[in-house]
Amino acid sequence: MTITKIKEPFFHVTGERGWINDPNGLIYYKGQYHAFFQYYPNDTKWGPMHWGHVVSDDLTNWKYLPVALAPGDECDKNGCFSGSAIVHGGKLWLMYTGFIENEGGESIRQIQCLAESDDGVTFKKHGVVIGEDLLPDGYAPCDFRDPKVWLHDGYFWCITAARKIEGRGRILLFKSKDLFNWEFVNDLFGKDSAGTMIECPDYNEELGYLLFCEQFQPSENKEHLNVHTCRWCVGRIDYSTGTFKEETRGIVDYGFDMYAPQTFAGKPVFMGWLNMWDRNVPSAKYGFAGMLTVPRRVLVENGRLCQEPVVNCGEVYKATVSDRLEDKVTKGVITVKATNLEGFELKMRSNGDNYTSFVLCDGEWVFDRSKSGEAIVGVEKDEDSLKGIRRMPYSNEQEATITIVMDEFSVEIFEGGRALSSTIYPPFDANRLELTVKAAACEYARADITLNK
Ligand code: FRU
Repeated sequence: MTITKIKEPFFHVTGERGWINDPNGLIYYKGQYHAFFQYYPNDTKWGPMHWGHVVSDDLTNWKYLPVALAPGDECDKNGCFSGSAIVHGGKLWLMYTGFIENEGGESIRQIQCLAESDDGVTFKKHGVVIGEDLLPDGYAPCDFRDPKVWLHDGYFWCITAARKIEGRGRILLFKSKDLFNWEFVNDLFGKDSAGTMIECPDYNEELGYLLFCEQFQPSENKEHLNVHTCRWCVGRIDYSTGTFKEETRGIVDYGFDMYAPQTFAGKPVFMGWLNMWDRNVPSAKYGFAGMLTVPRRVLVENGRLCQEPVVNCGEVYKATVSDRLEDKVTKGVITVKATNLEGFELKMRSNGDNYTSFVLCDGEWVFDRSKSGEAIVGVEKDEDSLKGIRRMPYSNEQEATITIVMDEFSVEIFEGGRALSSTIYPPFDANRLELTVKAAACEYARADITLNK
């Protein structure tokens, strides 16, 4: 099947055509940021996974490079699944999961493979380096994937997602002197996770946090409503025991569509997949399905993982909001700074009939995409999800800053270090922004994004 992309987001990364999911191998190498992603160019549905590849100088302008990894070798017969990158000896190394389907189900095999490049463009595969033989007894070889690699104290360390046979998700730690010969260290938590399976674990040694996704995770106290969701845990790995010393935990994103975040090797910036499993993707008719979030700078503040968008902006339009403001905007970065905020009602991408709203209501943020445009249907059956609603705690700071990164098919909203990201598929003429604020003082700024396309 040949796919042609006829529309695309303005500055969010998508595939050159077809389907993408998780960001992979995020790294700075030879003067450029590299982002790889799970990619199937031949359809707008998930299929045999390749690694698509883009590079950027400024984390905003991205340029396609040829596909970095394609499936078909003995170790990755049916797919090159998610993984990460590391620079070593001047070369760029990718660790990824080789997917061998066999007869499906329990006969699937997932093994960790290695590839190298000395130009950051073409990659030579070295085959399997962490095989089924290194998986301890009692763990399922059909659910063993997504290696994240880093260097610490003279060793390479790698965490992978795993699952206990007849159990739930786990994270396993391995170590190596040379990236080729690995040994198993420990099961990081030593107990089942809430999700049936963990995916895409990510560890940042410098700031001390772990990110991971959980599939089919029951929601406690409506903490999250997506059935597949991502958590952060602030804490550190104790390398002497191979355990994770957790301090605090929380939800990475409060919106409908964010999964599989990965941190750039050695830099406090991550990107996620701005989409979600088990939903229809209305953009498929334009020849693409799936995009990456904008890069997000991470900070750990008072035991909390906080994030803010990293976008290279151009000209800025500024205005004071006395109580109501209208603007025309379909893409850009909007910042509202308010002192003593009491009321906030924002309609984005509005043409009257269609709009997406973000409102401060009874002390919490309420996002509503029920009238945003084309319907997006998921597997969640709770009242909020069926109504197109997501909620996020409000920081209650005296000086509140609300930042909205808006593109043709998405909004990513940030306040008090928290994020709420969702796809939307509004009519193309829905370009009005209407803001009503009750505050002691309020400033509005809209920054344009000019790409050197
Ligand atoms: C997460 C995930 C990974 C896997 C990849 C396959 O979204 O399921 O666990 O490696 O996608 O595309």
